[in-house]
Parts: sequence; structure tokens; C-alpha cells
Amino acid sequence: MSSLLLLALLVSVNGFMSITPAFCDTMRFEMIHRHSPELSGRLGAGLQKTRLEQVRELVRLDEQRTQMIYHRIGQRTERRKDAEGGADGQIGAAAWTGKVIGSSGASVPMFSGSFAGEGLYFVPFRVGTPAQNVLLVADTGSDLTWMNCIHGCRNCGRKVDRRRFFNADLSSSFTTIPCLSRMCKNDLAVMFSLTDCPKPLNPCKYDYSYSSGQSAQGFFANESVTVRLTNGRKMKIHHVLVGCTQTTQGQKFSNVVDGILGLGYSPNSFATKVLQVFGSKFSYCLVDHLSPRNVSNYLVFGRNHIVNVNPPEMQYTELMVGKVLPYYAVNVIGISIGGVLLRIPLSVWNLDKNGGTILDSGTSLTLLVEPAYRLVIDALKVALIMYKKAEVPEFEVCIKVDKAFDEGLVPRLGIHFAGGARLLPPVKSYLIDVADGIKCLGFRSVFWPGISVIGNIMQQNFFWELDLRRERVGFAPSSCA
Ligand SMILES: *[C@@H]1O[C@H](CO)[C@@H](O)[C@H](O)[C@H]1NC(C)=O
Ligand SMILES: *[C@@H]1O[C@H](CO)[C@@H](O)[C@H](O)[C@H]1NC(C)=O
Repeated sequence: MSSLLLLALLVSVNGFMSITPAFCDTMRFEMIHRHSPELSGRLGAGLQKTRLEQVRELVRLDEQRTQMIYHRIGQRTERRKDAEGGADGQIGAAAWTGKVIGSSGASVPMFSGSFAGEGLYFVPFRVGTPAQNVLLVADTGSDLTWMNCIHGCRNCGRKVDRRRFFNADLSSSFTTIPCLSRMCKNDLAVMFSLTDCPKPLNPCKYDYSYSSGQSAQGFFANESVTVRLTNGRKMKIHHVLVGCTQTTQGQKFSNVVDGILGLGYSPNSFATKVLQVFGSKFSYCLVDHLSPRNVSNYLVFGRNHIVNVNPPEMQYTELMVGKVLPYYAVNVIGISIGGVLLRIPLSVWNLDKNGGTILDSGTSLTLLVEPAYRLVIDALKVALIMYKKAEVPEFEVCIKVDKAFDEGLVPRLGIHFAGGARLLPPVKSYLIDVADGIKCLGFRSVFWPGISVIGNIMQQNFFWELDLRRERVGFAPSSCA
């Protein structure tokens, strides 16, 4: 998979990529948190949520997302079985793209990652020629980028009520993928392409299902996308695979967003495509979504010149790409509280023994499999014994705090990675504010065996750089400014 990333370095005559890649350039997306005032116009009723309501909403979204991640893990187990029976015995992009799905489509659960429209971060996106604006959910758990779309339409302008659509008829760069092509029949099978092909040049259709029971139907196309570079200039990326969604099912598809931006790691996802242009790294820095500060979150493809990180402060550890597609797995080996390593069974961290850990910016809290959760909670609970208990049903341990509360008295939590890297998040990243005067331990327990998830609250106030080619992730404390 990683070898693919640099393929596009050379401008090829057969139109694989018709822009001149410039690795000194980087591309930047603003990521707007769903609780940001910027979105309140569109979210309407979401505007007046209290902090507790916001936290509850995050917990509810986490629950949906956990289900969907576990669907994906189910797929992984499924694929692994298949692959072991097959020739290569390895899970990876090759097994994932065609072979297994193609040969045993029926046994693979027809679920995609995203929890459609219910995402945490939204990204303004410009698509087509001339460019049209849409607002997409940025989802690392999704591989197809799609938007509500009009195509081949006479007189339907009127039906386009208040929802925003991408109007493909107005774009000169919109090129449908023929249903008879290899791309449709093989490569896009993982994105739920349909075999239905009355005429060879008819567009390749999809019926993309989400684990929450929602689905989107439409057809695939190559389209140009306009992105903003960190130096302020704009750039067009051609032949980006997009879905032109014509119908959706399931009432939860919100009116807020126009579609999904697939940032997951898979052969045809947007992330994989743009990394061919900008080099193999992407990075992000998330600010505390509950704080009033309006420094924005961003996602940068290519070398990051925005954040000032002190290079010696960067710590690196292995990034396991392609192992739990489309997620980004990391090799955690332990957790310490107050400098003491907890006796968590090592199998909990072992991806090959149905454990392991992923880094997921789409999950808010940190999910720990039960054996790890228990030890972490118990160790922290002891340290919080002098505070009055508070009851918040979503959390096991909550305390009442007043202005005199001193974070310095809370023992530091450390997440230890293979190779010696150690993440020491600020106390507020695991003893989180859920309401005025109430703080709770921000972990959720998930079944063992299963995968643990380092959520975005735990990642806040750190700069994260994922290098897919070198298969490593680096992090350093940062104010994100
Ligand atoms: C779509 O783009 C891909 C490259 O991303 C290319 O291989 C393919 O030929 C294109 N298909 C059409 C119909 O333009
Ligand atoms: C938010 O940003 C705007 C400009 O981007 C600035 O005028 C405003 O003062 C900021 N608000 C806060 C609370 O920092």
C-alpha cells in the first residue's frame, strides 16, 4: 500500500495525475467541531446545549462509533480467516481490495465505517469545475467520499429545497466511472459497487451501507477538488474518486452536512489519493472542544509548517497502517498511573490476539477493553478518594470540584508505546469537565477481547503526525497555535 503513495510523483502521460506535485506545498483543512459556534446556524437547536448536554451527545456518538468500529473488526477477523486459507496469509491492502471481497462478497458484512452525518468534525470542501461548496463530515472511519448530488437532470432545480447539492451538470470535470471497467468491478467492490450494468458506459453505481442502518445510493465519478494550500494558494487535484449520491435511506442523515469526506486508509479513499500528491504524511492538532478558545483544529496533508513544535519534543512510535483498515493502529504496550506501570495483561495490546489499539479522532472518549479499563479506573479512583462523589450516569467515576481544585494532585497518566515513546496527556484529557463543578474519568469500557481506542480528547493539545510511508506516528505537546 505505501508503495502506492509515491507513484504519482511523476506526472504521467496517461493522465494518472495531471498536476505537478510539489512536496514543499501542503494542504490544509479546517476542521470545525460540531459544538463550534461556527456551525450553530446550521445545527439550529444545537446552539444552546449546556456542557453536560454536549458531553452526553459525545458519549452517544461514541457508542455508535464503537459499534461501527467493532463491525470493522469483525470484517478484519473475517478477512484474516480467508487470507490464512488463501495464498498470502497476510492481511493487507492486497487482500482487502479485491480478492476476499470479490470471492466471498456474501460473507463479508455489508457495513461501512462512518456513522453518516453524525460526525464530530466538519470540513468545508470545494468540488467540481468551477468549484462548488459543500460541507462534509471528516471521517477517518470511512473510505468513500460522497455528496448529495444532481446529475443528468432537467428541470429539477426546483426540487432542490434547502438541502445543498453538488450539481454535477454544472461541472466540466465530472467524469463517471463506466460500469464495465475493472475499477468498477474489482477496485470499487469494497465501496459497495453494484454489478448491475445494462450498458458498458453506464455509470458504476453503489449502494453504500452504514452500520447504523443508513445507506446512500448513487454512482462513482472522477472529479476535481480544489484545496487550499498552507501558503494560501489554491490547487486543483484531478481524478479524485467521489460518489454522486442521489438517494439516502435512514432519517438520521442530517440536514447539516452534504456528505462524507473519507479520510480512512484504503486504496481509493481521499486520504490515500491526496497523499500521493503531498507526500506520505498528514498531521493534525486538536484543541479542547469545550474550551471557549477559538483556535481552530486543522488537518494538514504534507509537511506541516503551521505548528511550532520543538523537534526534540517529538516522540515517535510505530504506526500500523493497513492492519485494521481503514483505521490507524498503534503499538501501545502499557499504561502507568503516577509513574507506576499497571499490570495489564500484554495480550490486551496485541493486535494479533484480537487486542490492540487504534488512534481515532472520530471517537471522543478513550475506550479501554475491560481488563485495562478496570485497572486504570481503580488506580485513579484511589487517587480521587478525597473528593465528593458526583453521579453522572454515563461515567463510572465523577467528582465534585470547586475553584480550589488542584490538578497537580491528580496522578499523571502515561500511555507507553513500543520503542519507548510515552504520551503524558494533561490531566484535563482524562479527568474531563462534564458540567460546572463536575469532573469525570473520561474512559469507557469495551468488551474483551476487543480493540482499545485512543479518542480525540486524549489527543488534545498534542500535535500528531502520521507518516504512512515510514509507518510511524510522532507526537509532541502543542498549543496548536
Ligand atoms: C479515474 O481516476 C483514476 C485515477 O485516480 C484513473 O485510473 C481512471 O482511469 C479514471 N477514470 C476515468 C473514467 O476517468
Ligand atoms: C475568535 O476569532 C475572531 C477572529 O477570527 C476574533 O475576532 C475573536 O475575538 C475570537 N474570539 C475569542 C473568544 O477568542
